[in-house]
Amino acid sequence: MSLDTEYEITTDSARFDLTLIDEFLADSYWARDIPRSVVEHSIQHSLAFGAFHQGYQVGFARVITDFATFAYIGDLFVVPKHRRRGVAKLLMRAILSHPNLEGLRRLLLATRDAHGLYAQFGFKPLAHPADFMTLHYPNVYQRDAHDSE
Ligand SMILES: CC(C)(COP(=O)(O)OP(=O)(O)OC[C@H]1O[C@@H](n2cnc3c(N)ncnc32)[C@H](O)[C@@H]1OP(=O)(O)O)[C@@H](O)C(=O)NCCC(=O)NCCS
Repeated sequence: MSLDTEYEITTDSARFDLTLIDEFLADSYWARDIPRSVVEHSIQHSLAFGAFHQGYQVGFARVITDFATFAYIGDLFVVPKHRRRGVAKLLMRAILSHPNLEGLRRLLLATRDAHGLYAQFGFKPLAHPADFMTLHYPNVYQRDAHDSE
């Protein structure tokens, strides 16, 4: 069975396994302890993609965008059992070929160690990182923590 028939990518968020998504993200290095209500709100206001295998969700990604000029790709993951089988690449292919994301001026993402995945789709490190600034609150989901990084 080919990868495309074994795995299905959908943007139908009604089908998403919110428990799986919430549990993965709350345990991730980038969104530790994110509350389920915030996960649900973020999905409602993004273009989100789910990867499914035999009816079960095995991967996820979210595109935050104005659908005109800019998009940020975030929260991309594949559950451990289905890694190294091309599912992340299927998600990236679905995102980059989505008709509502054509003609954007910039797509951005952040990753700690998966640069080789995104490089396959043409992503490059920032040419001028000093041109970018951020307000970052990595501890926002831990109570009483408001320090920025
Ligand atoms: C990173 C992750 C999404 C990759 O998913 P995957 O389905 O195993 O990836 P794929 O099988 O589609 O392909 C990955 C390709 O990128 C490459 N790659 C580069 N860096 C990688 C990394 N850190 N992890 C996995 N693959 C990586 C692989 O070598 C592979 O290349 P190939 O096409 O030459 O075989 C998955 O390991 C994951 O969920 N990790 C934990 C969450 C995470 O770190 N997400 C990224 C946040 S930006």
